Amino acid sequence: MNAAGSSCRVRVPATTANLGPGFDCLGLALDLWNDVTFALEGHGVAVSVEGEYTEGLPRDESNLVAQSFLRLCEEAGKAPPAGLRIDCRVRVPLSSGLGSSSTAVAAGVLGANELLGRPFGLDRLLELAADIEGHPDNVAAALLGGLTIVVRKGDALLTKKILVPEVNVALAVPDLAFSTKSARAGLPTQVSMQDAVFNLGRIPLVVEALRTGDYELLSQVMEDRLHQAARIKLIRGGPAAWIAAQRAGAAAVAISGSGPSLVAFVRLAADAARIAREMAAAFEEEGVAARPLWLAASAAGATVSV
Ligand code: HSE
Repeated sequence: MNAAGSSCRVRVPATTANLGPGFDCLGLALDLWNDVTFALEGHGVAVSVEGEYTEGLPRDESNLVAQSFLRLCEEAGKAPPAGLRIDCRVRVPLSSGLGSSSTAVAAGVLGANELLGRPFGLDRLLELAADIEGHPDNVAAALLGGLTIVVRKGDALLTKKILVPEVNVALAVPDLAFSTKSARAGLPTQVSMQDAVFNLGRIPLVVEALRTGDYELLSQVMEDRLHQAARIKLIRGGPAAWIAAQRAGAAAVAISGSGPSLVAFVRLAADAARIAREMAAAFEEEGVAARPLWLAASAAGATVSV
């Protein structure tokens, strides 16, 4: 490895994907960040993780940050470094539908790209990250920030970042074992023309509602017929939390990514904490521990500093 520098720090935001109808196309960056530092030192790959959400995270080469780092080296035709130290500060809950694996993938490819002297531009980094992740919406929002639309075009990805005014969300993160892989495996492989049309008209309306801060419109169009019906059945307490959010005054509710968290879009930032607590309480009433979170969207995406 020809190192351009010997260390760097990468920050990557949490994301909420799909936003109701925009399955695999829409993502929104949130103001909650994982920090990862990379240093070319020692021998082999050493990973440390600290923070509230570290249980089960590997401390060796099998860690997703490390895997993504090494994959970028491979793509660049470079040998892996003789020694690599990765220190992760984890603030994004794991396996929650808040894009925690995307933060790991984005951090890994950005860190390697930096230490290799930036062989790849953002477009290629996004393609690589989406390839590792298996779907592009979380990584697009994590890398670009803000509200992003992403579509596949042949082997490439087309992305558009939409400028939005302040957006605030309330979330409930239930303590349920969940993986995106199983949540995707449970989805139908074919959908009806009617259901496709139902979603495709709503996607631009969700974007337009967020772009213009029109929560009346958002409350009518954040609906889906492609993935949420199958998934909500897997989320114990999810239907109750959904109703609780609506009763508490949320403009719109969706499953965050593939779940199990629910995300509610709120008109006023001052209401977000209360709505999040109501959602978490509804989970608790069904016997599922849940953490309330309230966050603003982040206009900024991942950053790299040396
Ligand atoms: N679009 C992806 C899915 C997001 O719904 O499976 C996963 O966070």
